[in-house]
Amino acid sequence: MTVATAVAHPNIALVKYWGKRDLERNLPAVSSLSLTLDGFRTETTVQRGAEVDVVRFGGRDASDKERRRTLAFLDRLEPGRPAVVVDTANTFPTGAGLASSASGFAALVLAYEAARGGDLDRVRLSRLAREGSGSACRSLWGGFVLWRRGEAADGSDSHGQPVAAHPSLDLALLVAVVTTEGKAVGSTEGMERSRLSSPLWETWVAQAESDVDAGLAALQAGDLAVLGRVMESSTLKMHAAMMTSDPPLLYWQPGTVALLHAVWRLRASGVPCWCTMDAGPQVKVLCPRGVAAEVAEALRPHAQVVHVLGPGPDASVRVG
Ligand code: DP6
Repeated sequence: MTVATAVAHPNIALVKYWGKRDLERNLPAVSSLSLTLDGFRTETTVQRGAEVDVVRFGGRDASDKERRRTLAFLDRLEPGRPAVVVDTANTFPTGAGLASSASGFAALVLAYEAARGGDLDRVRLSRLAREGSGSACRSLWGGFVLWRRGEAADGSDSHGQPVAAHPSLDLALLVAVVTTEGKAVGSTEGMERSRLSSPLWETWVAQAESDVDAGLAALQAGDLAVLGRVMESSTLKMHAAMMTSDPPLLYWQPGTVALLHAVWRLRASGVPCWCTMDAGPQVKVLCPRGVAAEVAEALRPHAQVVHVLGPGPDASVRVG
């Protein structure tokens, strides 16, 4: 019996992943670019070797769905594995567009690998985490992470890789929470619906690679205005594909729209800030750290709570 504990941080995509070219392996239809966050984290302990499988989420027994998804993933990592005790906890609300599956599967793969005494490198762990949840492949690393869609049928070229930003970029990422209620349609189902029914699907996929390249170039050049513009454009195109799916996927709430306008008003007044949204109503805002307090102040009247976060570290693990 070996025990290992891993910590991983959620990431927010600046250029979005939405859609799969292979459902089974979570191979994406598009490349994406993300920022791993500090502040929020998932901590997961795996005891490999037990009488029966036990899965706990936040100190309680996992729901059937959580349990099935966790154990099916471990069966995939190691067919015929011994029984395990998995204990996982998030320091942020799950299921509300705050990317809990990203840090969740990154921590799980890291803890499980350490508990079985393996020594897979981060790229291989990233590929495995991707099979649990696509965005998890980006949470193995801190800071900015690129996930190329890849071309290989086996997914060998589809994994996260850390990218260095220009040293002048000192950024904050604010999460304005509209509601912490779980989302109506999960990402996997939503992506398939968009792929199969949105008339904007082809355009979304066709523009994604140049958005990633433009975002990457802006990141490396330290050009926040271009990065922000690409970021907003990516999320709005993704949401346009969502909204034009059949049946429509509208993840926004009235508070989401109020927050968007608050950010745009602030920007028009000369404060550099740009927004992004995921498969939920929350609005995330990227800005220089120096104006984060001012931006948070402008968001607060429209949000339940505003978290001021920044770039987070690599996922980490300890045995014992
Ligand atoms: C909207 O990684 O949660 O947050 O691969 O089906 O588990 P699955 O989806 P998931 O999708 C995240 C989508 C997104 C955009 C992004 O993070 O890039």
